[in-house]
Amino acid sequence: MTSALVAFAADHAGYDLKQALIREFEATGGTAIDLGTHSADSVDYPDMADVLARCMADGRTDRGVIVCGTGIGIAIAANRHRHVRAAVCHDVTSARLTRLHNDANVLALGARLVGSEVAKDCLRVFLETEFEGGRHARRVAKLG
Ligand code: RB5
Repeated sequence: MTSALVAFAADHAGYDLKQALIREFEATGGTAIDLGTHSADSVDYPDMADVLARCMADGRTDRGVIVCGTGIGIAIAANRHRHVRAAVCHDVTSARLTRLHNDANVLALGARLVGSEVAKDCLRVFLETEFEGGRHARRVAKLG
């Protein structure tokens, strides 16, 4: 995986998958910033999205991974921050295309919808794939 420093955040529903993804990422030589949550106790996904957005705004990393039950709620919350382009991915093709075309900087995953092996594949592809630029750069600029 190419990005060396990646921030991870999850709510209670995404806690176990976040832990599995951090283990996988660190096993491949990456350094994880674990923003929590740190247990399966209930927390609100918008709060966890805000923590991730703040970490990126502070310049600590330019890549993030967020996990909740579906990936949807935490992605909606994260995308309220202008500097975040969070994409919910259920497969490696979405993970690849959202990097190529959207320059997504945050991968959102649903722990209740995707298995851990698919999620790990999504993470690997998301981090390995470079933005294609060209015509997509004009469109991505309009997102901001
Ligand atoms: C928590 O139960 C659940 O609603 C949350 O993880 C997420 O799926 C929301 O989009």
